[in-house]
Amino acid sequence: MARVPGPVTVATTVDATGQRWGFTASSFRSLSLDPPLVLICLDKAASTHEAFTSTDRFMINVLRGDQSDIARRFATSGVDRFADGVTAPLELGLPGIPEALVRVACSLHQVVDGGDHSILIGRVEATYTGDGAPLVHCDRSFQGLTDNTPRFATH
Ligand SMILES: Cc1cc2nc3c(=O)[nH]c(=O)nc-3n(C[C@H](O)[C@H](O)[C@H](O)COP(=O)(O)O)c2cc1C
Repeated sequence: MARVPGPVTVATTVDATGQRWGFTASSFRSLSLDPPLVLICLDKAASTHEAFTSTDRFMINVLRGDQSDIARRFATSGVDRFADGVTAPLELGLPGIPEALVRVACSLHQVVDGGDHSILIGRVEATYTGDGAPLVHCDRSFQGLTDNTPRFATH
């Protein structure tokens, strides 16, 4: 799987006490068009697992090519991932990254058992899309897509 490129996203939520939670995730995928569902997989051992499986909503921030520092921060244990105002309350009041390439705000539709991970299925409630190139994770490193990469239409 290390050779399979994936998007680099930061998932965020807020708990009942107002505390913000977030983690870097490359497991973000679309699931269904009708109803509009997306999924993300979360390690059951992660410090964020309880918050994300008991929340009623969460946000996926898809990072741009120049945001690998944010990806590293939200994958680091024992630090204040929300320091320095990296997020602001955006769609649904959830912590969003203002310069993200895409934001998908979801209500929690279902939590499905997936071995040592939980599969969080979100129903899309609000979206934001910006311009630019995404950050990609492949071969255990962050990579960018250059604008001169040939593009082939898929349909
Ligand atoms: C590029 C990248 C992708 C990741 N994708 C996921 C993922 O899809 N699901 C997941 O549970 N953890 C993923 N992680 C790990 C988490 O970001 C985080 O490091 C882990 O949950 C441990 O955090 P904790 O200190 O909150 O327990 C990824 C880390 C990186 C660097």
